[in-house]
Amino acid sequence: MSDPRPIGVFDSGIGGLTVVKALRDLLPNESIVYLGDTARVPYGPKSAETVQRYAIELAELLTRRNAKVLVVACNTVSSVALPMLMTKFSMPVIGVIEPGARAALQASRNRHIGVIGTRATIRSGAYEKALRATDNNVRVSSRACPLLVPLIEEGLLEDDVTDQLILRYLQPLVADDIDTLVLGCTHYPLLTNAITRVLGLQITLVDSAQNCARAVEEMLNQQSLRAAPQNRGELHVALTDAADNFLNVARDALQLSFGEIELQALP
Ligand code: DGL
Repeated sequence: MSDPRPIGVFDSGIGGLTVVKALRDLLPNESIVYLGDTARVPYGPKSAETVQRYAIELAELLTRRNAKVLVVACNTVSSVALPMLMTKFSMPVIGVIEPGARAALQASRNRHIGVIGTRATIRSGAYEKALRATDNNVRVSSRACPLLVPLIEEGLLEDDVTDQLILRYLQPLVADDIDTLVLGCTHYPLLTNAITRVLGLQITLVDSAQNCARAVEEMLNQQSLRAAPQNRGELHVALTDAADNFLNVARDALQLSFGEIELQALP
């Protein structure tokens, strides 16, 4: 038995395409419908209540597009709205926090893990909770890095200004002796090169996009929701406002190809 319905992926904007890239690489026969809330991005500085309200609206739009599973490709939404989405919607819902936390625990040798993300993600303490749920002795050093998202959206992926800011944000975590760093924002995989350049190779970077894609694969297999192996998966992108320059930055950096972007009206 196979299930040709698309995987529904949503994010506050375009950063979630890093999760789409990981899904395309891992599950090329699955179709994906991606919904980015470019009309209301960024979610990072907003309150939990507002982000929850937006998340329900986006999830409802994806159910109307016949999604077989909901992938919350946004750390901010995953941090504050995942349990609520799981109770409100009947299909499986997967976020980025749990898979990232699991991968960080596997990677860390000294049990001291760093987490970076938006203000809302760090304020929620969601990574600490997920990490401590598995290992009560783990030490977690977290830091909100609100200026990284705008730099990424400007395409400054290989730039002195970005390197300096990374150093400034991450120095306290390095001084704390972390050996693993969770990139707790779906924009951040685009800075993997820059962060490695600044930190060196001693600190293992955990990318929530790749780990989320593996969790989706596992869940589709367990629940017999896989598309047929010979299926050619398609990627459809819908945005709630006109795409800006960041779409080109992400498309080029991720080497993703998709057709025309659809404009999705908000309720
Ligand atoms: N995609 C969001 C995240 O992963 C970051 C962008 C935003 O602030 O909306 O947290």
